[in-house]
Amino acid sequence: MSPSVRRYLIVGNWKMNKRLAEAGGLAAQVAQGARRCPRTEVVLAPPYLAVPTVREAVKGSGVGVAGQDASWEEWGAFTGEVSAPMLRDAGCTHVILGHSERRIHLGESDALLARKLRAALAAELAPILCVGERLEERRAGRQLEVVEGQLLGGLEGLAGADGLGRTAIAYEPVWAIGTGEVATPEQAQEAHGFIRRLLKERFGPAAAEATRILYGGSVNPENVSSLLTQADVDGALVGGASLKAESFLTIVAAAEKQAA
Ligand code: PGA
Repeated sequence: MSPSVRRYLIVGNWKMNKRLAEAGGLAAQVAQGARRCPRTEVVLAPPYLAVPTVREAVKGSGVGVAGQDASWEEWGAFTGEVSAPMLRDAGCTHVILGHSERRIHLGESDALLARKLRAALAAELAPILCVGERLEERRAGRQLEVVEGQLLGGLEGLAGADGLGRTAIAYEPVWAIGTGEVATPEQAQEAHGFIRRLLKERFGPAAAEATRILYGGSVNPENVSSLLTQADVDGALVGGASLKAESFLTIVAAAEKQAA
């Protein structure tokens, strides 16, 4: 991408990993390393219980904190749910929505995600909406159709040039997540360019140009640079490689180098 238009965003999605004692240490190491990369925006998404610990560990470093999900409602009788205003209250800056693991294991629908996205924006969190096709959908040549359905479904109800707010999109092909099989830079660019065109049609050129589109799925220190050179790849959503400070910070440094 052209760093003059958008700032790279690197997000570490810890998923259901790390005890509290480990979370603080890892976050502190990331915060320290991220100080050397001022051009790159870095965000950590720990499990909910570790949010306050991580928040404390990254304080003053510029590293953001994300929830891995948030409720469609703000408050009330919704046992087990955590809301966007609660995440904001705990110091979160971002929230991941619609990760394929939640779509697959919990049956999250595009309609539900559209409500969650609006709740996140109302709470002044920056949502990261995940979209991406499964292997059988790619094999059938339906990847763009699936991405379009998830993208427009999840963004339903947002209107006007300001509708997207600080939303970022993460293209995460399901077959690449946790498998070690990364999308080629060309496959990533095809989907990212398509997403940007859809955003342009829907929200206008300025909003589409300002929106970051992240790639996710087996990103590691070796493959990240080739992905980031693509015109519409504005960062990465990193799972496995975010669980160790060294590999995650190497990815952050690769973005920083690219932005220089
Ligand atoms: P991975 O996960 O980097 O371990 O493939 C990415 C994600 O699910 O966000």
